[in-house]
Amino acid sequence: MEAALKRELDTTSLRPFGHGGGGGISEGQSFQTDAGTVFVKINHKSQARRMFDGELAGLDAILKTKTVKVPKPVKVIDLPDGGSTLVMEYLDMSSISKYMPDLGEQLADLHLSNAKLRESQNKEAQTVGKGAGQSEIQYIDKFGFHVVTCCGYLPQINDWQSDWVTFFARQRLETQLDMIEKEYGDRESKELWSKLQLKIPGLFGGMEITPALLHGDLWGGNVAQLHDGPVIFDPAAFYGHSEYELGIAGMFGGFDSSFYTAYHRKLPKAPGFEKRLKLYQLFHYLNHWNHFGTGYKGSSISIMKALVK
Ligand SMILES: Nc1ncnc2c1ncn2[C@@H]1O[C@H](COP(=O)(O)OP(=O)(O)OP(=O)(O)O)[C@@H](O)[C@H]1O
Ligand SMILES: [Mg+2]
Repeated sequence: MEAALKRELDTTSLRPFGHGGGGGISEGQSFQTDAGTVFVKINHKSQARRMFDGELAGLDAILKTKTVKVPKPVKVIDLPDGGSTLVMEYLDMSSISKYMPDLGEQLADLHLSNAKLRESQNKEAQTVGKGAGQSEIQYIDKFGFHVVTCCGYLPQINDWQSDWVTFFARQRLETQLDMIEKEYGDRESKELWSKLQLKIPGLFGGMEITPALLHGDLWGGNVAQLHDGPVIFDPAAFYGHSEYELGIAGMFGGFDSSFYTAYHRKLPKAPGFEKRLKLYQLFHYLNHWNHFGTGYKGSSISIMKALVK
């Protein structure tokens, strides 16, 4: 691996430092190179390339909004013996504490950034004689993403859709439920799904949803702080409903009330928020069921039961 990294990063020195480690899915290692420090995520599975291509594209998209700090991605490098690595900027992270409110505010800025682009592009179009397209990024009017991104190691179907409810029901919930049926042959979730899908449109009565760029896997393990502000990493990005982001944030802890206060000051809760939050959490419970097994069946079923009531 070190030879491949040296060649691809065009560095003669490659000195590991720190304790390495990493999250639940990939190994992580920091290196000193000729050009400075990098953090490398290493995964030996055959699907690693797809996972890391998606992560790089997500980091890149979030970076371009200039709203919330993410590690700057460098490149994806295949390993000679299979698997792949993602090289990114090394950041000296510690547990998030005093920058919680900043995280809330900057996350709202991220979610509002696409709508702001629409505003500024509309204004530009009305200004005769002015050059168009000052921004590095364009307004996106659909839900999805230009590449597959993975939540955990499972790929998300990011094919573009103009209707959010269709996107979320078919390309998020149904995909997970199909996997559960295939893997576990579970009847109960199948029966509940046939009822739940009829209820979903009613949870969105009259809402107009502008696509928002989402981190997509914002649990407490994917946020940290640097000396000067918060940072988020390990995204499963796509354009979706902003409320979706708060689903997993509420499931495993790690976000305090100052985060939510700051977030909702910029992006207030719409009517029906709490019930939709449950719907969005259902995706993550199903995704956990598919990753880690039937330990997550109980929570998945009870959310489905609550939602069909
Ligand atoms: N750019 C970086 N610089 C320094 N350390 C990092 C960087 N990115 C991640 N880390 C460290 O590695 C840990 C795991 O990172 P990450 O969440 O990306 O891995 P993962 O295997 O995808 O995790 P999981 O699937 O469990 O969420 C982080 O908690 C952090 O301590
Ligand atoms: Mg992670």
